[in-house]
Amino acid sequence: MRVLIIGGTGLISRGIIKHLLARGADVTMYNRGQRQAPIPGEVKAVHGDRNDYATFEKTFASQSFDVVIDMICFSEPQAQSSVRAFGGRCEQFIFCSTVCTYSPQTPGRVIVDENFEQNPVTQYGKDKVLCERVFEQAQSDGKFKVTNIRPSSTYGPGNPLIDNIEFNAVAWDRMERGRPVICGGDGLGLWVSTHRDDCGKLFAYSALNPKTYGQSYNATRERNFTWRDFYREGASVFGKKVNLIFMPADWIVAHDPKRFGVLDGITRYHGAYDSSKAMRDVPEFRCEIDWPRGAQETLEDVKRRGAWRSSDNDPVYESMIEKALAAGVKPVEA
Ligand SMILES: NC(=O)c1ccc[n+]([C@@H]2O[C@H](COP(=O)([O-])OP(=O)(O)OC[C@H]3O[C@@H](n4cnc5c(N)ncnc54)[C@H](OP(=O)(O)O)[C@@H]3O)[C@@H](O)[C@H]2O)c1
Repeated sequence: MRVLIIGGTGLISRGIIKHLLARGADVTMYNRGQRQAPIPGEVKAVHGDRNDYATFEKTFASQSFDVVIDMICFSEPQAQSSVRAFGGRCEQFIFCSTVCTYSPQTPGRVIVDENFEQNPVTQYGKDKVLCERVFEQAQSDGKFKVTNIRPSSTYGPGNPLIDNIEFNAVAWDRMERGRPVICGGDGLGLWVSTHRDDCGKLFAYSALNPKTYGQSYNATRERNFTWRDFYREGASVFGKKVNLIFMPADWIVAHDPKRFGVLDGITRYHGAYDSSKAMRDVPEFRCEIDWPRGAQETLEDVKRRGAWRSSDNDPVYESMIEKALAAGVKPVEA
C-alpha cells in the first residue's frame, strides 16, 4: 500500500505513521521540512509548501498513490488544490477534518454522532466544512473515494497539553504546586481527550478499507467525561488533588481574548462525541490509552523538552484568582 501523507511531522500525523508502518505501508510525507520530529522507521520525505499551489500540484503530477491523507487542509482553495493534485491519482483520499464542524448545541441524544448538524461557531470549523464539501464533490465526480475523519481534542508527546481555558495550559504547573485552577462554567461541560496514537489508528486502518469510502467518522475515545473529571484525573498525575475556581467563560475570555480563545470558541460548549461508527467499520480502531496515563506521558515529554510553562509571573491568571476569591467564589475540589 503506497500512502502519501500531507504533513507527517505533526502531532496526529506521527500517530498515523506509526500504525501505517506497522501495517507494512510504503509511506511518503510531504511538508516544508521545518520540524525535526522522530519518525519511526523508513518514511520518504518530499519537501515543499502546499500553499504554493502550482508547484505542489506539479510535484505529484506524475505520481500515483493508493491513499493520500491530507492533514493540513484548512481552506476551500487548499481543498481544491488537493483535488487537482490527486484527482485520478489515488484510490482513496482521507481528509483530516474536525468535530468543530458540528453545531455547538446539545443534540437530543446528547452525544454528537456523524449525522449531527454541521453548523460550526469557529472560522476553523466553517472552513473545514467547505473543505469536506469540496472533497465530497470530487468523489461524486469520480476523482477518488473520500473518507472524512473528524478528530476532537487530540494530545500527545511533542505538543503542549490543553486545559479548559487555554491550549498551552499553565494549569499543569499550578496543579503540581497545589495552586487553585480556573475553569469555565461549572465544570460539568462534557469533553473527551484522545491520545494521538489512538486517533492515528483510525486514519491508518481506514486506508484502503472500502467500508470507509464515502463516509465520515468521529475519531475520539469512548469515554466522554466532565471537566471536573479531566482536572481530578489530570492532577492525579502529580499525586495531588486540585481546587477549581469556576467563573463564567465570558469573564475569563475578557481578561485576554487571544490567550483564552480556545475557551471562547470551543471548550465553553459540550464536546462529547460518539465514535461507534468508526469502531464498527474499522475494527482495529480501539482507544487504549486512558487519560491519566496519556497526560502523564505528555507532561513528562513537555518537561523533557524544556517547554514546561511556569505559573510564576502570570499577572493575568493571578488577578483572575484574586478577583474571584474577593467576590466570594469558593474553590471546589474536583
Ligand atoms: N490536535 C487536535 O486536537 C485536532 C483536533 C481536530 C482536528 N485536528 C486536525 O489535525 C490536523 C493536524 O494534524 P497534525 O497534528 O498531524 O499536524 P500539525 O501538528 O499541525 O503539523 C503540521 C504538519 O504539516 C506540515 N506543514 C504545515 N504547513 C505546511 C505547508 N504550508 N506546506 C507543507 N507542509 C506543511 C508540518 O511540517 P512543516 O512545518 O515542516 O512544513 C507538519 O508536518 C489538522 O487538519 C487539524 O484540523 C487536530
